[in-house]
Amino acid sequence: MKYLITGGAGFIGSNFIHYLFAKYPDCEITNLDKLTYAGNLDNLKEFETKPRYKFVKGDIGDENLVDGLVANCDIIVNFAAESHVDRSILGPKEFVQTNVVGTQNLLEAAVKHKKRFHHISTDEVFGSLPLNSVEKFTAQTPYDPSSPYSASKAASDHLVRSYARTFGLQATITNCSNNYGPYQFIEKLIPLMYINAKLGKKLPVYGNGSNVRDWIHVEDHNAGVDVVLGKGKIGETYLLGGNAEKSNLEVVKTILKLMGKDDSLIEFVKDRPGHDLRYAIDSSQTEKELGWTRKHDFESGMRDTIAWYDAHEDWWRKLLSKDYLQYYEQQYKGR
Ligand code: NAD
Ligand code: DAU
Repeated sequence: MKYLITGGAGFIGSNFIHYLFAKYPDCEITNLDKLTYAGNLDNLKEFETKPRYKFVKGDIGDENLVDGLVANCDIIVNFAAESHVDRSILGPKEFVQTNVVGTQNLLEAAVKHKKRFHHISTDEVFGSLPLNSVEKFTAQTPYDPSSPYSASKAASDHLVRSYARTFGLQATITNCSNNYGPYQFIEKLIPLMYINAKLGKKLPVYGNGSNVRDWIHVEDHNAGVDVVLGKGKIGETYLLGGNAEKSNLEVVKTILKLMGKDDSLIEFVKDRPGHDLRYAIDSSQTEKELGWTRKHDFESGMRDTIAWYDAHEDWWRKLLSKDYLQYYEQQYKGR
């Protein structure tokens, strides 16, 4: 199988490339990535000289480039995106450009060359659930995105469905909850709190820390994507969740405990505008129809993740660049 993976130098995409080569050593992978601040070729060092792996630096919005790459693959798996909610509040334009316009460009090429297309999406398209309820997102939940990020992902999901209905594109979509694990970019909750604690800095928890996310190990997410690629019904949307709802405060306290630090580092700061209260996914349809299950529970998954960051200090220290520190200052000043 010849895969075109977009955004394969990011957190989930690079883990997916590791997953594919471990499971299907004979597969061929082309990784198309623009190498934004979030793309990192250090995530894929061991494949650099592998003949079945090719890296192409480029934009999913580049028509000629995408046309040639799509013509030469069997399947496109689209991970490429601007992915950080806080950055979408600072500057939404790039989110529309990549997540909406870029995805549409991939869809055009997939239709033209009659290729199978899988789109990686998020539970954030469904908006916010009330705290302290048992309600969960299902594939039937209406879209109600809150941030420019989630609105751009919702738009891209709609485009994928419209290309399937109108042009007969062979497409599937997965909407997943919050991922954690190796190679996550350092702006996201778990690595950010880990690094701040390591550096003896305060841990900025938005609002009162009661917002809830449903945490899934990235390997379980990617195993779910793989199952959908193999057995998913064309035209379907599948939800993948961690079945591990935790408040942000619980997550931060777990990190501190695993690091042997105390809670005095926690600082409550000004809330994120439009901050969704709670996400929770009901994955039972995906589990029943496709036989997908999770390998990691939150406790052992977090232990492994903290151990991974401990063992890869060079990896995360390199990311503390001038640009990143400038972003950090801007994001957290006045909070
Ligand atoms: P990430 O920010 O770590 O990686 C995104 C990658 O896309 C980077 O390598 C970046 O260089 C690349 N990219 C950005 N714009 C591009 C463009 N125009 N052309 C080519 N490449 C481009 O993101 P992630 O956390 O790995 O998320 C991957 C996908 O999964 C996204 O579509 C995101 O919406 C979705 N998702 C993420 C989570 C999560 O918890 N992180 C959960 C559910 C869904
Ligand atoms: O639910 C899936 C989504 O999960 C993905 O679609 C997004 O790409 C991914 O970034 C993630 O979005 P979140 O906004 O939930 O993730 P983030 O790590 O930014 O924040 C998780 C929670 O922690 C959220 O409620 C905000 C809070 N938070 C975050 C940061 C960075 C803090 O309290 N302090 C922080 O410094």
